[in-house]
Amino acid sequence: MSDVDFAQPPAFPMQRSCPFHPPAEYEQLRAESPVSKVTLPTGRVVWLIVGHRNVREVLVDPRVTSDRTHPNFPLLASVPPEQLRAIPQTLIGVDPPEHTAHRRLVIPEFTVKRVQTMRPWITELVDGLVSDMLKAGPVVDLVQAMSLPVPSLVICEMMGVPYADHDQFQTWTARLLNFTTSPEQRAATFQELVGYLDKLVTAAEEDPQDDLLGRLVVKNRESGVLDHTNLVGMARLLLFAGHETTANMISLGVVTLLEHPEQLAAVRADPALMPKAVEELLRYFSILDVATARVATVDMEVAGTLIRAGEGLIAIGSGANRDAEAFENPDDFDISRGARHHVAFGYGVHQCLGQNLARLELEIVLNTLFRRIPGLRLAVPVGELSFKHDANVYGINEVPVTW
Ligand code: HEM
Repeated sequence: MSDVDFAQPPAFPMQRSCPFHPPAEYEQLRAESPVSKVTLPTGRVVWLIVGHRNVREVLVDPRVTSDRTHPNFPLLASVPPEQLRAIPQTLIGVDPPEHTAHRRLVIPEFTVKRVQTMRPWITELVDGLVSDMLKAGPVVDLVQAMSLPVPSLVICEMMGVPYADHDQFQTWTARLLNFTTSPEQRAATFQELVGYLDKLVTAAEEDPQDDLLGRLVVKNRESGVLDHTNLVGMARLLLFAGHETTANMISLGVVTLLEHPEQLAAVRADPALMPKAVEELLRYFSILDVATARVATVDMEVAGTLIRAGEGLIAIGSGANRDAEAFENPDDFDISRGARHHVAFGYGVHQCLGQNLARLELEIVLNTLFRRIPGLRLAVPVGELSFKHDANVYGINEVPVTW
């Protein structure tokens, strides 16, 4: 394990030495300094909180703010303040009571009951993509063939993107998340996509249909909480929050189950085990662990350490989810453990709105892939995969598979 020099706030993010485990420093920090200072790439010094109990404690504490436009918010890259202020803030970046009013508008779309009604058509969609894979390969890149299209097509369908526009929508979202896309191309694609979402929201405002955006517009008319810009911001958040995250979990899920053949055999024999396997995958990777960043609004103590008003903090999910106090043998991948108390979806009022949908998509994709392609395996050694070590959302760039 590398040694942490507590006198000199170490650089954050810390590096993973193994693609299947969080940085080794977290273990030492949990034992010796569970609330400690780190230096972000921007040069800003913030608090890193690594233990399961303390992470949950901070994320339910009303004394922290999620306001991403706060000058001390722990962003990993420098964003000019005027650019930050230009982004419509909704849900993820606002605090109660405003947050409660925004969230109330979209909660009905993501309940377990509502999401389960989507099972048949999501299964059909995934089946279609598997058939395309079988026609195109072997070898195919799982990321392009399955991981990216699934969340994009699902949210497309939910938001009422006309079928004729699905291909265009898919091209934009895939280009945005393709690691070979240049920054210029990415910026231009982003503008086109946001422009498209704006038109979609305008159409829903003029003639609301029975889809997510239509129902959101109608519900919003009763309360008048969101203006047009905020409605577009909400559409944008729903698309982006669920796309790269779910896509990376699909890729990591396939690779990890292939790396644990006995556990894969167990879920193959009994697909009803898959929801538990999905929970363990979410815990094991905690791919969006930097999203749970906050700023203290008043002086507050966490685990005996004073965090002053205005100081930033990151309650790091991948630290919490490998805490031996909360999970026995936390570094073992074990689909039978019952990992439901993980914080991979965050905790408290901002806990992931789309978690039931993400769980369903993962369950359907993993079960369908391993059932329809029994010989599915990596086309390259796992050591040759390129993991996203420097990205905000952890994942894999390409996953060549064969069968
Ligand atoms: C495996 C996939 C996913 C992971 C790991 C994930 C993770 C997270 C995390 C950690 C947060 C908390 C952020 C915070 O506390 O500030 C969050 C919030 C959120 N997620 Fe997810 N997410 C996933 C999928 C989705 C999907 C599919 C959707 C919707 C289509 C979605 C929509 C949201 C929204 C809207 C929020 C903000 C909620 C709020 O502030 O009230 N996510 N997600």
